Amino acid sequence: MSSAAVAPLHRAVRFYAAPIGKKAVMAITGVILFGYVVGHLLGNLQIYAADHDQINRYAAFLHDPGRATLLWGVRALLLLSVVAHITASVQLWVLKREARPIGYVKKDDVPAAYAARTMLWSGPIIAAFIIFHILHLTAGSVLPLQEIAPNQPDVRANVISGFQHPAVALFYIVAMLLLCLHLYHGVWSMFQSMGVSHPRYTTGLKRFAAICAIAIAAGNISIPIAVMTGLLSN
Ligand code: HEM
Repeated sequence: MSSAAVAPLHRAVRFYAAPIGKKAVMAITGVILFGYVVGHLLGNLQIYAADHDQINRYAAFLHDPGRATLLWGVRALLLLSVVAHITASVQLWVLKREARPIGYVKKDDVPAAYAARTMLWSGPIIAAFIIFHILHLTAGSVLPLQEIAPNQPDVRANVISGFQHPAVALFYIVAMLLLCLHLYHGVWSMFQSMGVSHPRYTTGLKRFAAICAIAIAAGNISIPIAVMTGLLSN
């Protein structure tokens, strides 16, 4: 390989070796995962459509064999983003510990400091939730999946029958609350990594992060609650 071809690779490796490189990877993968969570929520909310087949038609559209390359491309991008996000976060945590072995408490912003501290354990619990969630609603290993036709899941029926189990519904609700804290801190950190953290904008950016995080959690949590209260049923 020519030295001209190696140079950009070398620069990328050196950029990643510095904390700012890892923060950039966290911000970019965070934006990709955030975009997925927003798109997924919009898809999930179709469960409230008066036409009960709406969400199943949407799922069939996503799983259309003609779009298999796109579907697997998106899945691969998501998996890569999750792995890179977790790897960079662990490496940053190690660097931070090495630089400042004794932690300090900043008392000026209690909600932000609380959300920052929760990142350490909210991240792994959300990762565990995603594995459980895929086993539950994609693989059908937790509860048997109902189908409309061969290889065409009855998404509406599967979501509703899943949340009729209080333990499943409760786990989803707890995971969504943690996701809310994680997104709040994550969105705010992303602005800081991008250098958009001028004191003049701090309140506005934090409010924006909080609104996004709460809206996403509330939208998702509404589904198990609607099932448990009987508002949504098969
Ligand atoms: C109440 C909340 C949620 C509901 C009702 C829900 C519903 C679903 C359903 C029905 C599927 C299977 C889709 C299909 O086979 O067509 C699915 C897949 C998935 N969901 Fe969720 N979801 C929720 C929250 C979340 C959250 C918060 C995340 C991420 C943090 C997430 C990540 C995923 C992933 C990664 C898949 C696999 C996608 C694939 O197979 O390509 N979900 N979800």
